[in-house]
Amino acid sequence: MNQFLRSRPRRNRKSEVIRSFHRETHLGPEHFIYPLFVHEEGEKAIPIASMPGCMRHTQDTLFAEVERALSVGVGSVVLFPKVPDALKTKGAEECFNPQGLAPRLIRALKARWPELCVVTDVALDPYSSDGHDGLVAPDGRILNDETVALLCKQALSQAEAGADVIAPSDMMDGRVAAIRDALDGAGHSEVSILSYCAKYASAFYGPFRDALDSAPRGGDKKTYQMDPANVREALREVAHDEAEGADMLMVKPAGPYLDVIRRVREATTLPIAAYQVSGEYACLKAAAQQGWLDEERVVLESLTAIRRAGADVILTYFAIQASEWLA
Ligand code: PBG
Repeated sequence: MNQFLRSRPRRNRKSEVIRSFHRETHLGPEHFIYPLFVHEEGEKAIPIASMPGCMRHTQDTLFAEVERALSVGVGSVVLFPKVPDALKTKGAEECFNPQGLAPRLIRALKARWPELCVVTDVALDPYSSDGHDGLVAPDGRILNDETVALLCKQALSQAEAGADVIAPSDMMDGRVAAIRDALDGAGHSEVSILSYCAKYASAFYGPFRDALDSAPRGGDKKTYQMDPANVREALREVAHDEAEGADMLMVKPAGPYLDVIRRVREATTLPIAAYQVSGEYACLKAAAQQGWLDEERVVLESLTAIRRAGADVILTYFAIQASEWLA
């Protein structure tokens, strides 16, 4: 007898009940953080052409969208403000304005839903006339330490407004420790830090930069975001961010970087977030709209794969849709 036909793996796949006995990965709305774009230009939400189904919200439509998210079990959002050109400067000073768009919306959201977990982005790009996450010197270099000082002020303005989780996405060195000290020094020891720890210099951020009009005006982000060819470098960032006091670590993008998620999972006991970024969303949406892929199945498969690789929580523009499908 063929010895491989004695132990038949297919017996464990013969019915949904048996398949569910040994399913290893679970996916639910509690695993999602919903990224939302907001602006204050005009009264209307604006559809984002390269991200079908996503809008740049006004405060009103933002509130309606958060209401929808909560109603399907998604308890966390991350805000990305679009700042008008007139407020963008070389020094990106608007980033720590306590009356700026982000702090105002954080206050409004927390007043309306104290239980909502509000995550905020810390980086200069939406506020910088150069479109970079850090300050740019006349010779084009990105100034690390000067930037970190600003990021601390930005983080404080968000914490003061009531943010639950501060998420620095800038990739400057030493910023987690500096932000932790700044928060603790101002009495915000309960505010968490979710560090964009392994953030790659990825072309998959294109649609996001369209949504916020935040693309770099010159050069690229390769002196601070990581080389897509590398994984050892990610582990070095993990060691730093953990020692600097991060509460959670992020890998970004997610789908094309599942091996990085796995390596980071094995290198830390901290919770791990993965960001299924705008370009990943755009790819799946475009193929689904063409009728080339079954949207529900590919989206749930992509999210399951990110969880299987080792992510605890996923930032995804599909948060509401996926939760509805899973219900
Ligand atoms: C900015 C930031 C970016 C994203 C999140 N925060 C863009 C970038 O680094 O250029 C990308 C998210 C996405 O593509 O969905 N610091």
